[in-house]
Amino acid sequence: MRVLVTGGLGRIGKVVVERLAAEHEVDILDVAEGPEGKRCFVGNVSDPAAVAEAMAGQDAVVHLAALYRYYPERHAEFVEVNYKGTFNVLEAAVKQGVGKVVYASSICAYGFLNYHEKLVPSYLPVDEGHPKTPSDLYGLTKLQSEQLCQAYAPRYGLRAVSLRLATVWFPDQLENTRRFYSWLAAPEQGANYLWNYVDVRDVAQAVALGLSYEGGPHEAFNVGADDAVADVPTRDLVRRFYSEVAELRNTDGFLTRERPPLYAIARAKEVLGYRPQHGWRDYARFYEA
Ligand SMILES: NC(=O)c1ccc[n+]([C@@H]2O[C@H](COP(=O)([O-])OP(=O)(O)OC[C@H]3O[C@@H](n4cnc5c(N)ncnc54)[C@H](O)[C@@H]3O)[C@@H](O)[C@H]2O)c1
Repeated sequence: MRVLVTGGLGRIGKVVVERLAAEHEVDILDVAEGPEGKRCFVGNVSDPAAVAEAMAGQDAVVHLAALYRYYPERHAEFVEVNYKGTFNVLEAAVKQGVGKVVYASSICAYGFLNYHEKLVPSYLPVDEGHPKTPSDLYGLTKLQSEQLCQAYAPRYGLRAVSLRLATVWFPDQLENTRRFYSWLAAPEQGANYLWNYVDVRDVAQAVALGLSYEGGPHEAFNVGADDAVADVPTRDLVRRFYSEVAELRNTDGFLTRERPPLYAIARAKEVLGYRPQHGWRDYARFYEA
């Protein structure tokens, strides 16, 4: 397939592009200038003409370009880049017969990560059917972009997959590793994250699976690691920090396993065949450094 990766020069994009290039012809659309030797379109996803040019002749698009976390001073950009960018990608996909869309959504669509006042899940683990109450424009535009996919896909014969990525762990970035590891000593620091994470290489795996997914027309999946970043059993974290949660479910062995994640990845496992390969314990050498 010929695949366009928007935001393909970013932290996730680089790893995704490398993984997809083994099987597909890959083009990149990014506001940044790409290195020589890569097929890059320089352009902004909020510009419909730039998106249309890059989408010509593609079979699929992986849409990563976005402001990747919440910036309180950049509200207008969230609408322009995160929301309108997705709209432009879907419009171009429909007009140019690009049949597949893999969208990088976020667990921020549920609202727990950046809440202003403590938000408590209705039940645990949080699965795809859990109510979504985004608590900032980042989470809101991620959820709205999924809803755009949902509105376009059945009507126009697209197959769209939204991947609700956990907070991504880049193992080669020491600061990033230190931040996650700080939750081991001080679990309260990971509480609004629900101690959740995903290795960037597993994100690339999920994207590749999303591209080959033949179901649809639009499906959303949590994509995370298969454990929590904690030295204690998951139920101890729940008891200590989320005792208000009314219902604990046995999704993916949540009640019987020692350290299951608090965002369930059972659906991605079952439907996409997703199998996370990398976990925080592999990174001990960074922690020791
Ligand atoms: N990093 C995380 O923890 C995380 C978690 C969940 C979801 N996501 C999503 O994954 C995607 C990629 O995130 P990342 O961490 O690689 O971010 P990043 O900032 O490292 O990469 C984003 C890339 O998109 C490009 N870009 C930004 N605005 C653009 C625009 N208007 N037009 C074209 N290109 C533009 C940037 O130049 C960059 O190369 C985002 O959609 C983000 O919301 C990230």
